[in-house]
Amino acid sequence: MMIRKIFNRKLVVAFAWAFAGFSMLHADEGMWLPLLLDQNEAEMQRMGLQLKAEDIYSINHSSLKDAVVIFGGGCTGEVVSDQGLVLTNHHCGYSAIQYHSSVEHDYLTYGFWAGNFEEELPCPGLEVRFLKEMRDVSGQILAGLDEVSPSLSEQTRKDSIQARADRLSTPLEKEGYEVRIVPFYYGNQYYMFIYEVFRDVRLVGTPPSNIGKFGGDTDNWMWPRHTGDFSVFRIYADENNRPAPYSPSNRPYVPKHHLKIDLRGYEEGDFTFVVGYPGSTQEYITSYAVRLIQDLIDPMRISARTERLDIIKAAMDRDPKTRIQYASKAAGIANGWKKWQGEVKGIRRLNVVGSKQDYETVFQDWCQSVNGREFTGVLPALEKAYQDLEPYLAMQIIFQEHTLAPEAVSFAYSFTRLRNVSTGSDTSLSLEEALASCRERADRFFKDYDPVVDRRIFERLAFMEEADGTRTQVISFPGNTLEKQLDWFYGKSVFTSQERMEAFLDKYKASSYKALERDPLFKYAQVVYGQYFNQVYPFIKKYNERIDSLQRIYMRGQIKLKESGDFASLMRVGVKNDIPVSNVGSERLYPDANFTMRVAYGQVKGFKPADAVQYAPYTTLSGIMEKENPDIYDYVVEAKLKDLYARKDYGPYANALGEMPVAFIGTNHTTGGNSGSPVLNGDGYLMGINFDRNWEGTMSDIRYDADMCRNIMLDIRYCLFIIDKFAGATRLIDEMDILYPLWWSENAAM
Ligand code: ARG
Ligand code: ASP
Repeated sequence: MMIRKIFNRKLVVAFAWAFAGFSMLHADEGMWLPLLLDQNEAEMQRMGLQLKAEDIYSINHSSLKDAVVIFGGGCTGEVVSDQGLVLTNHHCGYSAIQYHSSVEHDYLTYGFWAGNFEEELPCPGLEVRFLKEMRDVSGQILAGLDEVSPSLSEQTRKDSIQARADRLSTPLEKEGYEVRIVPFYYGNQYYMFIYEVFRDVRLVGTPPSNIGKFGGDTDNWMWPRHTGDFSVFRIYADENNRPAPYSPSNRPYVPKHHLKIDLRGYEEGDFTFVVGYPGSTQEYITSYAVRLIQDLIDPMRISARTERLDIIKAAMDRDPKTRIQYASKAAGIANGWKKWQGEVKGIRRLNVVGSKQDYETVFQDWCQSVNGREFTGVLPALEKAYQDLEPYLAMQIIFQEHTLAPEAVSFAYSFTRLRNVSTGSDTSLSLEEALASCRERADRFFKDYDPVVDRRIFERLAFMEEADGTRTQVISFPGNTLEKQLDWFYGKSVFTSQERMEAFLDKYKASSYKALERDPLFKYAQVVYGQYFNQVYPFIKKYNERIDSLQRIYMRGQIKLKESGDFASLMRVGVKNDIPVSNVGSERLYPDANFTMRVAYGQVKGFKPADAVQYAPYTTLSGIMEKENPDIYDYVVEAKLKDLYARKDYGPYANALGEMPVAFIGTNHTTGGNSGSPVLNGDGYLMGINFDRNWEGTMSDIRYDADMCRNIMLDIRYCLFIIDKFAGATRLIDEMDILYPLWWSENAAM
């Protein structure tokens, strides 16, 4: 007994020594499970956390996690008062704000501030979710599945998992909870997440777009940044403080926990952590997968979108009406376009393909050993699967980024249901219902549609620009020129003219499906979608399923390689040591993001984007005045803000230097979905709201680099300054718990 104890101690010491260097260096990487945060506690405390892991996530008493919500379908939000007040990003509240905006009440342009509870605006369809609890259910879900029958088909495996998950969820769902059972480490582990869903969420306030979206797409993904990217909502509950559908009699929700707000600021190097819902990362894929992203997927999408954006931007510059019509579309197209450019640049600069290849060499060597034997063959099989996938992937991207680039194509396809209802092959709704939904879709479509722009896009995107600059035609019409075909689409089809569409819908009866089927764009849409669904998608699905199951085994291998301790010995034998940090870094591998709650932590820190250039870690209101340009839509600054700036009327929201801070950056590892996440300091107080990353660091979804990857956060002081000084919504300030800086409290005492 005694001997074993001593032996273990030695092992532990040796282990800690071997990894000490790594974990000190790479503390910033990782999106950790709140349930297992005990394992990060010591490191977080060393970096400046004053709390215990239990204060962040606990199921026995209220903890920080009780103040964090899934906001809508893909963002995070946080509760900041005992009356259910929620902060999130402006771009996360955007569709709710747009929903309430009209020409008479243009809240998007001018902002909105409810003067009292009664003025807060219900937002149909908007939901927030609180995580009640997460549980490791790997045992129940996976028992016997991998061990007993390794030859189990992927579909059978999926079916068993689904059945087991349903069995676990049903009792909790009956109690009114929402349950999601989610795979981790590519299906090597499963966790159950139990959520409480609130469906009465109301818009409380939003700054005007020239604050909430300041810098627009020009500054998107960029540092230095000056976007006041926040909006304010409130959760309502029934008289028992329980979730309930919207009702005028609902009351502000009293949360289990709400965040205190810290106006005392920070210095470079200070500890920060982010609690939120990162959507998806791929840190453990192979060199084959990264090569595909770097050489095929991203470049194809980027070049297609460059051409599409050129056309849209030229049209937007020419005509203010087009600018409004296409602003939101252009933002959507540009968001991915810009991110992928940073991603390709980053993975090239870090030679991720090369370093993954080195790691794979080590892995293959390890497969010769007793521990690694079971993984022999997994890498070659993955390589083969990616080779098989590649041509179909290229066809998929052509379909998505070229074929569907002209909007009329998917619009025409969306009338398939009307045809099916008319012919009687779809009886799930009546002809009137089908017609009504088409009418509604047509109204929305034509409101923001310009057929001239769309035709130009069709013309240009019928070709694909190759790396060497040559243009290959990817969409052609046998027996007809593109020109003639487009004359027909844009001169005759009901899908490219509101007048033709209205005339068509007005006299529509069941037999009109014949006319629909004769419509040139409807016909074309049926053909291209049919080709995609029959000749491309089945193969994408097949090879992706194969990759999924292989990647599950490979992931298990990567975990085992790490935990076996074999890695170090393989390194000593003289293999290259340029191994991805995520594979050797801390003591365990964090699971890829999958839109479940995670904790990321790091420091407030500037970075060096290029030789001789150093970026400071925060921006100020002066920077907004520097960027101001009344002639450029993205850089318009309102008189009221200029006036506050001129008078330096910052109240308690200034920093110790008297500046008005706006945004700051840190080394927290975040991704899409983390938007709106609370950024907390060592005391667990709210210091900011996460909203973006730097363009140079967007490869962090594949490879995190502590030198270059930064998350971009709104300084909570700017948020409160806008609410208080700019909007005068002091009733909201009054309901928050605020920690004031010493200089302000001293002033106030005098
Ligand atoms: N880049 C941020 C995130 O990925 C913000 C996007 C919204 N803002 C915009 N200007 N398009 O989603
Ligand atoms: N802007 C992203 C979001 O909307 C955040 C990111 O990708 O860093 O979630």
